[in-house]
Amino acid sequence: MRDANEHTITEAVLDRFADTPDPRLKTVLLSLVRHLHDFARDVELTTGEWAYAIDYLTRTGQICSDTRQEFILLSDVLGLSMLVDAINHRQPEGATETTVLGPFHVEGAPQPAHGADISGGLPGERLLVEGAVTAAEGAPVPDATVEVWSADQEGFYDVQRTDLGGPALRATFTTDAAGRFHFWTVMPAFYPIPDDGPVGTLLNASERHPFRPAHVHFMISAPGHEQLVTHIFADDSPYLDSDAVFGVKNSLIETFEHRDPGTAPDGRVLPEPWRHLRRQFGLKQDGTARARP
Ligand code: BEZ
Ligand code: FE
Repeated sequence: MRDANEHTITEAVLDRFADTPDPRLKTVLLSLVRHLHDFARDVELTTGEWAYAIDYLTRTGQICSDTRQEFILLSDVLGLSMLVDAINHRQPEGATETTVLGPFHVEGAPQPAHGADISGGLPGERLLVEGAVTAAEGAPVPDATVEVWSADQEGFYDVQRTDLGGPALRATFTTDAAGRFHFWTVMPAFYPIPDDGPVGTLLNASERHPFRPAHVHFMISAPGHEQLVTHIFADDSPYLDSDAVFGVKNSLIETFEHRDPGTAPDGRVLPEPWRHLRRQFGLKQDGTARARP
């Protein structure tokens, strides 16, 4: 193949990949080349823009570290993370919808007893979370592992603060015989995704804000079921309609109920008004065939 031009180069490149032995890799590569070339033709990509994109992606890689993954963040703000999530988690009736994992999950969170206060002494409106884990058809799931994490009242995760002695607002619970768990934390605030790197530059250039509405993260695992990665969003939070990473689903929005000072259902006495989230989580059976819409 010689003399490739803007009209013939795509077929030439597709031909060059034609002998890719792995069928899935071949499908992905051929489609990628087609879409990439069509994109360049569509916008008549200039040499300067191409060079800027290379530099942008280089900077995206360079800012990555053990604790920062700018490529996932880029995928998040482009809506790619939620698209891949949607394709891979077509939930059956009764199974809770999924959303992005985000960068603030930490393996090996503390495992306090049910009813523990996981706030690590951080200030804020006290929040009681009572959860129930079931199979999609409603049977309770005992011994499920429930990882929870959330931001504080200022919108920071523990890993973003330097003034804490250890983990806070994160824990791992195991559901009881009735599939239940409960814990005390503080009401999370909305917060900006990390916007001091290339993703922030992109948001700025497109006049997009970096905020996510207030939420609590849940990651629930149980044998025989697909791992559920989701959040529950507070219905009174700003940004529910403009989440920077497109993660909000109506079925994941709940009222974090306002309660008067007094005795909570677990006997704890609250001198101040407090909040109460009650929520059931349905797990999808492992290996459930993915139905194409
Ligand atoms: C989060 O919810 O923790 C999050 C998700 C995606 C990007 C940044 C943060
Ligand atoms: Fe979050």
